[in-house]
Amino acid sequence: MGRLDGRVALVTGAGSGIGAAPAARFAAEGASIAGLDIAKPADEAWAEVSANAPGAIFHEADVRDEAAVKTAVGAAVERFGRIDALVNAAGVVGFGSAHLLEVEEFERVVDINLKGSFIVAKHVIPTMLEQGSGSIVHVASVEGLVGISGQLAYNASKGGVVLMTKNMALDYSPSGIRVNCICPGGVETPMTAMLNMEGLKAIGEKLRAVHLLGRFAKPEEIAAAALFLASEDASFVTGSSLVVDGGYTAGHRISLD
Ligand SMILES: NC(=O)c1ccc[n+]([C@@H]2O[C@H](COP(=O)([O-])OP(=O)(O)OC[C@H]3O[C@@H](n4cnc5c(N)ncnc54)[C@H](O)[C@@H]3O)[C@@H](O)[C@H]2O)c1
Repeated sequence: MGRLDGRVALVTGAGSGIGAAPAARFAAEGASIAGLDIAKPADEAWAEVSANAPGAIFHEADVRDEAAVKTAVGAAVERFGRIDALVNAAGVVGFGSAHLLEVEEFERVVDINLKGSFIVAKHVIPTMLEQGSGSIVHVASVEGLVGISGQLAYNASKGGVVLMTKNMALDYSPSGIRVNCICPGGVETPMTAMLNMEGLKAIGEKLRAVHLLGRFAKPEEIAAAALFLASEDASFVTGSSLVVDGGYTAGHRISLD
């Protein structure tokens, strides 16, 4: 028996990394899956989802495009009749300090990470309201809680997701909808793969070292947190920011050696 038997999950960013992991894990736990991403997932990855969740659908859509999101959400409701869990994992990273950052780049990052998460939730919530139940899991970041140099737009977008989570929890808890976010530390995904390139390896090593566990997470470790929040195990959890960061935000380890 799976932890999400009979449930329906819509996962954005399902084509890669942190979004692909809950799509696969939720399917393995018995959920029907609707994936949404601007880019198609690799055939093997989606085959794994479909093997466990026969009838799984995938929609190519940009989370910034409200009409496309509405169509994708509508297709999921038409196919499965309900949406029990939304995992909002579509996102991009962005670099630049304030005086060097083009306004267009700031808008791109905030539009995808913050506005996109809002748009998808906006179109899923009416179905959850009709059901009187649902769980929304936004993928924020530790960078929505603490700063990191040179990533102004990313920090701002993820800080916005953390507060948007609390706002949605306030507005929808009376209707049986729980809303939480996950704040991952570094995760080994295509987004962070650049840190394995020659020239950036030293930064990658430093970043991994400031996680107390000395490494980045695997996407499956974030999917496990998403599964908890989406499942009945989290029936009393709403408005929270679940930090899954290998100790990144715990503080500073001072060594006298
Ligand atoms: N990798 C990390 O270290 C890390 C840490 C904390 C939080 N996050 C967050 O997790 C989420 C997933 O990141 P990831 O590491 O899996 O990255 P990723 O690049 O592997 O996956 C991101 C996915 O989002 C999709 N996407 C991008 N723009 C989109 C758009 N406009 N519309 C629809 N889909 C779009 C991409 O096609 C991709 O499939 C992001 O929100 C990211 O900010 C990542």
